Amino acid sequence: MLTEFGLALKYVRARGNTLYYLADDGTEVGVFDAASGFGSLMFGHNNPEIVEHAKWLLDQQTPVHAQFSGYSFALNLAAELNTVIRRELQTEDKFFALFGNSGAEAVEISIKHAEMDRGARIAELKAEIDTHVEQARTAVANGARVSADAAAVVGGTDFDHLAAEVARRNAQTEARPPLFLALEGGFHGKLVSSVQLTHNNEFRAPFKALAAQARFIPRDRPELIAKVVEDERSTLLDVTVQDGVVDLVERDFPIFAAFLIEPIMGEAGIFPLSAQLAGALREACDTFGVPLIADEIQSGMGRSGTFLAGTQIGLKPDYIILAKALGGGVAKLGVVLVNEHRYRKDIELIHTSTYGRDGFSSRLALKVLQMLEADDGKAYQLAAERGAKAKAMMEAIKADYPDVVKEVRGVGLMLGFELHDQSDSSSPEIREAVEHEALAFVIGGHLLRKHQIRIFSTASNLETMRFEPSIHLSDEEIARVDAGFRDICQILRDQDASRFE
Ligand code: F0G
Repeated sequence: MLTEFGLALKYVRARGNTLYYLADDGTEVGVFDAASGFGSLMFGHNNPEIVEHAKWLLDQQTPVHAQFSGYSFALNLAAELNTVIRRELQTEDKFFALFGNSGAEAVEISIKHAEMDRGARIAELKAEIDTHVEQARTAVANGARVSADAAAVVGGTDFDHLAAEVARRNAQTEARPPLFLALEGGFHGKLVSSVQLTHNNEFRAPFKALAAQARFIPRDRPELIAKVVEDERSTLLDVTVQDGVVDLVERDFPIFAAFLIEPIMGEAGIFPLSAQLAGALREACDTFGVPLIADEIQSGMGRSGTFLAGTQIGLKPDYIILAKALGGGVAKLGVVLVNEHRYRKDIELIHTSTYGRDGFSSRLALKVLQMLEADDGKAYQLAAERGAKAKAMMEAIKADYPDVVKEVRGVGLMLGFELHDQSDSSSPEIREAVEHEALAFVIGGHLLRKHQIRIFSTASNLETMRFEPSIHLSDEEIARVDAGFRDICQILRDQDASRFE
């Protein structure tokens, strides 16, 4: 498909916001890259400072591997990440760091941690129930009796029968697989478990049988969370003794392991969550005792203008997941930060990975953090300022082409430029492209060939072009995108597919 639309160029060099391929005559052609490693390149391709540092790390004979040791570099990274996120979350709480090699892997680490936490909470609840059953057994030996209500539930007044029935029914409930909560349109990766939290049915459905499922909530309907929780509610039976009477009570069984969200939903089509939703999510998670996990893999590391995009909406997550840009576009790593109040330290032995915590990635990520934080956070300011300028350019196009451009969304350098649906186009070629879900590729191919711009739509919203260049976005590059987008808008206004190159 990439070949068909002329997108399968073989890039030979990359620097800043530019990827280079060789033309037929052997000369290099530079392409402005708005895809930016799916948002991994906050500082651009092969940023000289990062490249220099990477070379230096290797020259220094940095111990890339030193498993089962003090891991000084990974710990330094965890400490520096704490400084930054505690400032942004305005908390004194500590965050423990777990390391992996990619975004999806970090999501899976968070899934495993959340399930361990859920298991521990179930064990605590069961221990309480066991204690209550033994207390009731003693009370019965001393003359207490089983209430009529309890007898009706378990089918008899005999206490041993009641205890056996409580154990049997509770074992049935405990056998239910865990569930997760996530938002409709959300994207959290494509590994075995993470893909089940990714809403797109095409990615998720073939692998449904392999992992725990999520219940998806529309991002504009937080009031539905309570309904979904109620739908899935199940309880364990507990035993009470009062005034010589043994009774049964229901205790909520923690069926939901976690609620995963993206503060700016990327793949869904660049939808920033509102402060109101952030508050509603926190409240729901507190009410139902479920940890709130912010997937900042794409939105984090300064792309929004703050280190965490959630900071701007007052989001208070229990875990934070980072990857992509944390490795400076060179190293592959993912980090999960878990609030100390939620942290289950056994995970550190139960989940390991050979390259997780490796010295090279950790030191490179430390460098990235330093670069972000340098000069009073100049990088964050640049993301905000360059992003605002690019957004203003897109808004101006929308004002000139309201018939073609539906909406401009996003924060900082995570922007979405959404076109109106063209399925009713008067041009048969355009209609056919929409039918084959190929219009975004036609547009992408045209922008590439005619304007030397590399840009894609988001996977779950094919009308939205996603713009995520580095903070070194220049005025010239903004002008190039302005011209390219206007050209597309004029072609679509004229419904003249013959002008697509
Ligand atoms: N979470 C979010 C929010 C993501 O955007 C991605 C990847 C992942 C998790 C998975 O990370 O690819 O390193 O395993 N998003 C890519 C994209 C695929 O198109 O933005 P990964």
